[in-house]
Amino acid sequence: MSFRRPHLLGLAGLEAEEIGDLLDRADSFWEAAGTPGWRATKSPATARLSAVNLILEPSTRTRCSFEIAEQRLGIEHLSVGDERLSLIKGETLVDTGRTLRAMGVNVFIVRHPEVGAPARLSEELPGAHIVNAGDGTGEHPTQGLLDLLVLRRRWGSLGGRRIVIVGDVLHSRVARSCVHGLAALGATTVLCGPRHLQPEAGGWPGSSVAEDLDDALAGADAVMALRIQRERFTAGEALPERAAYRERFGLTMERARRLPSETLILHPGPFNRDVEIDGEVIDGGRTEVWTQVRAGVAVRMATLTALGEALEASSVETGAPAGAWARA
Ligand code: NCD
Repeated sequence: MSFRRPHLLGLAGLEAEEIGDLLDRADSFWEAAGTPGWRATKSPATARLSAVNLILEPSTRTRCSFEIAEQRLGIEHLSVGDERLSLIKGETLVDTGRTLRAMGVNVFIVRHPEVGAPARLSEELPGAHIVNAGDGTGEHPTQGLLDLLVLRRRWGSLGGRRIVIVGDVLHSRVARSCVHGLAALGATTVLCGPRHLQPEAGGWPGSSVAEDLDDALAGADAVMALRIQRERFTAGEALPERAAYRERFGLTMERARRLPSETLILHPGPFNRDVEIDGEVIDGGRTEVWTQVRAGVAVRMATLTALGEALEASSVETGAPAGAWARA
């Protein structure tokens, strides 16, 4: 089953085949993702796309890789952040979306601090395709896909694998998307970190919760460290102390040395060196962190191409011009 949805809002609810289709597409863009200046031959599916990257929270990897993906696919695009938008004059997100829609924009890559903001836009902007590029503590599906891509390229298949995700899981949209994607593809996850930063046991599919990192790491196929997302802590939530955190939950050089060489080490970035992962581990060359970044370009090219094809197919079915304002 190919991915034929109008939006990519999350990995929760996607079928394994749909995820597999996006990963297959991303695989086909692997070389393109690592080749400066690569350009796709124009395809009718992507030629009809006009994208805006609406990035309303800090972002390096996600924003830049969407831009690079759009450039390599020859998609008309622009990127804007809050400081340059009328949102700061009190305009609502939906009105900003409608304004861009009236200019013919039909793809919205949306990063927003509120859970559900991209989904809201998908309801309010008929004819537009929305990609969630991170909504608060909600989901970050293209990040989840890029992690799956890295693992699948290493292992061939994810069935039966066990992945430890350590850190501030509760506030992590990366972890949520990853866990859903991994569960769909037959892998299990062990969520580890301070108890108050973990979801309820059994709350996330295919996952269990562990408090001791060293126990959790025994026999793991991969481990992903997460940043403590201080910006998402609410008044009552205690921030862990750096040194104590590193001691119990950090991917220190010592822990990394104890891991078998085939255990993969991931981190979505940005890193807080020497807190959740030692700088030495990152610089030591045995992590997947830079491969993850390259996979990000491939996955975003895959997503845009899939949306373009879905749009192309729907316009063939309805006879309407693809993505035109008239479709609203
Ligand atoms: C993550 C995010 O923004 O959710 N970063 C990313 O997209 N690579 C993780 C984080 O901010 O810690």
